[in-house]
Amino acid sequence: MSLKKHILDLRKRKEKVEMGGGEKAIEKQVAMGKMTARERILAILDQDSFTEYDLFVEHEAKDFGMDKKQLHGDGVIIGTGTVYGAPICVFAQDFTVAGGSLGLMHARKITKIMDHALKMRVPLIGINDSGGARIQEGVNSLAGYGEIFYRNTIASGVIPQISVILGPCAGGAVYSPALTDFVFVVDNISKMFITGPGVIKTVLGEEISMEELGGARVHAETTGNAHFFAESEQECFDQIKKLITFIPWNNSKKAKEFPPKEPQFKGNLEDLIPADPRKPYDVRDVIRSIVDDGDFFEIQELFAANIVIGFGRMNGQTIGFVANQPLVLAGVLDCDSSDKAARFIRYCDSFNIPIVTLEDMPGYLPGVDQEHAGVIRHGAKVLYAYSEATVPKITVILRKAYGGGYIAMNSRHLGADFMFAWPTAEIAVMGPEGAANIIFKKEIEGAENPEEMRQLKVQEYKEKFANPYVAAAKGYIDSVIEPNETRNILLHALEVSVGKDINHPDKKHGIPPF
Ligand code: HXC
Repeated sequence: MSLKKHILDLRKRKEKVEMGGGEKAIEKQVAMGKMTARERILAILDQDSFTEYDLFVEHEAKDFGMDKKQLHGDGVIIGTGTVYGAPICVFAQDFTVAGGSLGLMHARKITKIMDHALKMRVPLIGINDSGGARIQEGVNSLAGYGEIFYRNTIASGVIPQISVILGPCAGGAVYSPALTDFVFVVDNISKMFITGPGVIKTVLGEEISMEELGGARVHAETTGNAHFFAESEQECFDQIKKLITFIPWNNSKKAKEFPPKEPQFKGNLEDLIPADPRKPYDVRDVIRSIVDDGDFFEIQELFAANIVIGFGRMNGQTIGFVANQPLVLAGVLDCDSSDKAARFIRYCDSFNIPIVTLEDMPGYLPGVDQEHAGVIRHGAKVLYAYSEATVPKITVILRKAYGGGYIAMNSRHLGADFMFAWPTAEIAVMGPEGAANIIFKKEIEGAENPEEMRQLKVQEYKEKFANPYVAAAKGYIDSVIEPNETRNILLHALEVSVGKDINHPDKKHGIPPF
């Protein structure tokens, strides 16, 4: 055969394999409102940057009629490319080929690209659209998933791992994403569960739809398994690309610096917080007023909204923001918001991203439900994560900082590098009402007019303790600042923290509360 013929033969072979499960299966995929695996990769990566590997890999299974089945690419596409010039490793499961199910060779392709990502220290994006372990391949499929989980774990904290759920994903196809840093879901397309509605009906007799069991909203709002929710696949890919701009390639690098920009905030920071301490406000407005271009990229927006986490830039540098949200449950810490904050703090710490904490919260949420749900161990995660983090850590107390909340939200005592407070800050063991009722109990009960006495004592307590000056007098607060000074003070604090270099005692690893 001439070279020309060889090339034509190669092209023909490629064309055939690139059709995945074939025209009919692709039509079915499109009818469900889904892109194909190949289209998804191309939509995320920079134009013409994708290079594919292992296109001609074939499965070797023989049982259950598999010896007569050809599964193109064994149901997964792997390769490398770039996103805004940053190198990326990627895999995308192809649901048109045996439901994207994972057999031995399929797994080997994924572990090959994972190994490559870890070796090259570049981010990994995994697009999951799979019925999980390929039933016909038995223990080989389970082995494949085990090897993926192992690599997810070893790569954790070394390279960013991003998971995208774009179809009905079961079993291993959801456990691997759960081990990664960020999970993206799309409304009506993404479904995640360990066992599907069929199994639930058989075992428990309960009837539930796939959407109600593990749809995108369920995971974005209720379980917290998803970090980003999108209305369409394209919106999801735009979110992924934006995330890539905020994070470094690996844990030995810093995130790319962008040209500094002003926040574009037109108003007055002093007007953002109501004079009445019982009135809520949206803390995201405070964040937007201090970050470059007012651009705050929120993570887990729909889950545990009493805490806000996400990335913004200050003078072009990526900063992780953690902020109590007075709009929701007065910004208290509970089980879910503690988990959300703690994991994000650990992410920022792993990837050299300074953390700015904005505090306004009355403490941990009291109640039997929370206590029995384990608020002690969940809440302890925040203490652990802040204490452990060695990146620059700066706190601004906007308003309430009571009790355990004061300590937990990156206090000086957990290693904050700088502590600032607005003059509206109230730093004390508990709120004035509760405190007065306890410490002035006798005076109140013995008074001629107990209510009048109670109000008097509340006022006395407020004047004495519910302000930033007691903490400032002890040096726990470095500076009481005017709201409008916040951005400049933070910029300065970040600037003088670039060389931060502290080391905790050597250990294999800590044992954080789970
Ligand atoms: C082999 C599978 C498969 C699987 C789907 N298919 N899942 N083949 N192994 N696990 C095949 C189907 O046979 C079908 O092939 C094609 O994919 C499309 O599947 P449908 O059922 O027609 O699609 P749909 O109705 O959309 O339902 C999708 C689904 C469902 C919800 C994913 O297929 C399903 O429940 N699958 C099984 C899920 C599961 O229990 N997986 C094992 C998890 S255990 P044809 O040839 O007809 O097109 C696991 C172990 C690891 O993963 C656990 C780690 C802890």
